[in-house]
Amino acid sequence: MTYILGLNAYHGDSSACLVKDGTLVAAAEEERFRRIKHWAGFPSEAIRYCLAEAKIGLGEVGHVAINQDSKANLWRKIGFTLSSRPDLGLVIDRIKNKKERANVREELARTFQGESFAGEVHEVEHHLAHLGSAFLVSPFDDAVVVSVDGFGDFASAAWGLGSGSEIRVEDKVYFPHSLGIFYQALTQYLGFPHYGDEYKVMGLAPYGEPKYLAEMRRIVQLRDDGSYRLNLDYFRHHKEKIDYEWENGEPRVGGLFSEALSELFGPARDKRDELTPHHKDIARSAQAMYEEAFFHLLNTLYQRHGLDRLALAGGCAMNSVANGKIFRNTPFKRIYIQSAAGDAGGAIGAACVAWHKVRKRSAIGPSPQPLSLAGTGGLSDNRGFVMDHAYWGPQFSNAELGRVLQARRAELDAQTCVTEEIADEAALCQRAAQAIADGQVIGWFQGRMEWGPRALGNRSILGDPRRADMKDILNLKIKRRESFRPFAPSILREAVPEWFETDDDVPFMMEVFQIRAEKRSQVPAVTHVDGSGRLQTVHRDTNPRYYRLIESFARQTGVPMVLNTSFNENEPVVCRPEEALDCFLRTRMDVLVLGDWMIVRDGTHG
Ligand SMILES: [Fe+2]
Repeated sequence: MTYILGLNAYHGDSSACLVKDGTLVAAAEEERFRRIKHWAGFPSEAIRYCLAEAKIGLGEVGHVAINQDSKANLWRKIGFTLSSRPDLGLVIDRIKNKKERANVREELARTFQGESFAGEVHEVEHHLAHLGSAFLVSPFDDAVVVSVDGFGDFASAAWGLGSGSEIRVEDKVYFPHSLGIFYQALTQYLGFPHYGDEYKVMGLAPYGEPKYLAEMRRIVQLRDDGSYRLNLDYFRHHKEKIDYEWENGEPRVGGLFSEALSELFGPARDKRDELTPHHKDIARSAQAMYEEAFFHLLNTLYQRHGLDRLALAGGCAMNSVANGKIFRNTPFKRIYIQSAAGDAGGAIGAACVAWHKVRKRSAIGPSPQPLSLAGTGGLSDNRGFVMDHAYWGPQFSNAELGRVLQARRAELDAQTCVTEEIADEAALCQRAAQAIADGQVIGWFQGRMEWGPRALGNRSILGDPRRADMKDILNLKIKRRESFRPFAPSILREAVPEWFETDDDVPFMMEVFQIRAEKRSQVPAVTHVDGSGRLQTVHRDTNPRYYRLIESFARQTGVPMVLNTSFNENEPVVCRPEEALDCFLRTRMDVLVLGDWMIVRDGTHG
C-alpha cells in the first residue's frame, strides 16, 4: 500500500489530497476549514482531513509531493536577474518564499506533534503538476496537454504531450510573460482588486463590445511558435516587487499594471465607481485578447501533433467562456479540464506525478481497475484512475446531522423553523423539487464536499431557472453580488443537446455554451446576456441524489435543470453542517436540506 500526500502549499488556494496506490481517496482546499477565501499557507487542516478520511496516521504516508520545485528553471531565473536587474526587493522576496517552501518536513512535524513523517518528499515543478492534474486523471491514453496561469516556478504556461503515464513538456512561457498576469492586470484596472476576481471580468465581458482589441494586441503579442509575449511597458511585475501577501490568510496582490495602461485606456476604475459602457468594452476586449492568444496556442499545438484530445489546467483554465469555444475555434474534439484547475489542483498533479515515478521505480505493478472509462477504449500503461467527479471532501452521516440540528434547536425555534427527517429519497427529492418550483430558495447539503471552486450539487443553493426574477431574489435573500454576474444551471446529462448547442459533457462547470435560442425564454434565470449558460452536466452514476432531484423537478415542470449557485455568503463554500446552518439562519433562505433532514422556515412551503 503506497500513500502519497499531495500538497499545494504557500500559494493561494492551499490544498491537500491523498492518493492510495494511484487512486484518489480525498482532496480538499484549506479555505473550507479555515473559513478564509483562497487561504494560502501550509494546508494543515486539509491534510488532517485527508488522513482522517483514509483512517491513517502521518506515519503511514510514504511520500509527500508538492507542486513546486525550487530548482526548476533556475538558469532562467539567474539569467533574468542578471539581464534585467530588477528591484532588490523582488529578488529577496523570491528567495524568502523559496526558503519557506523548503520546510515541508518541519511544517509536518510542527503540525502533527507526536507523529512523524519518514518518507520521501517530491518537489514537482509547478506546471508539470498542473498538467498532471488534468492528464493523469483524464480518460485519455494520449492527449495534448496545456497549462496556463499567472506564474509558478518562474513560468506562466507549459505544454506538450501526455502519453500513458508520461508527460513530455515541450515548451514553456517564462517570467515575466504571462496571460494570467495580463488578465489579472486588466481585472485590477477595471476595479476588481481581490485575488481571484478575474471571473467578474469574464462575466462583465458579454455586456461590452471588443472595441479595444487593436490596443490589446499592443499589450499581448502572439508569436509564430504558438506562444506569446507581453509588452512590458504596460506592467510593473518584472521590475518592482509586487506585494503578494499570503501568510496564513487571504492572498493580496499589489497593482500589476503601469501608468502606460491608463494612458492607453484612460484612468483606472476605482472599485466604488459605476461600471460604464467603456469599462464593459475593455472587459470584452481583454476577454477577446485572451481567447485570441489561447486559441493561437491550441491551434498551433493541434497542427504540430494532430491529436484531437486536450487536457487542460492552470488558473486560466478557469476561463469557462474561452473553454466553451474550443470546439468552435480549434479542431480539438475532446477536452478534460481538472475541476480544481487553479493552484489547488496542483496537489493532485504532484501526487499523481510522484505516484507514477514511485511505481515505475519500484515496479509496484498495475493500478487498480479503471473506475469509469466509458467510450474511451480503456487506459494503458497502468493508469487506472479517472477523476470523473469532484466529490472528494468531508461528508457527514444523517445521525451527525441530526445531532447538529438538536444542538441548534433553540436558534431554529426562534426563527420558527420546522424540521423533519425524510428517509425516503424519492419523497425528499419530490418535496425539495416542489419547493424550488414554487420559487423557494433552498440550501442543498449532501454527501462529500466538492473539490475545486464550483459547487456541484453537494454544497449548493438551488433555485428555479424559469423565473426571470430568481437572480434578484437570490441577490436579495442571500448573495448580494454584482448584478451583472450570471447564475449557472445544473442539467441532466441526457437533456444537454435539447437545451444547449452542444452535447459535450461538462461535469465540473468549466465550459460555457450557448443555450438554444428557442429555449432561452424558458430559463431566463440561467441565461446570460449573450444567450450563454455555464452548465454542469449531472450524471446518475456520480451524483444519484442530485440527479434524482433534478429529475423530480423536470417531472413537475418539464425543465430538466435547476439554478445552482455555491452554498455560501461572502465566505468560502460551506464545508460542515454547522456552517450551512449558520448561512441558513443569517440569510433569508427558505428551505435547508441537510442529508435526509428538511428544515423549512415557517410560512414557506413545506
Ligand atoms: Fe499555477
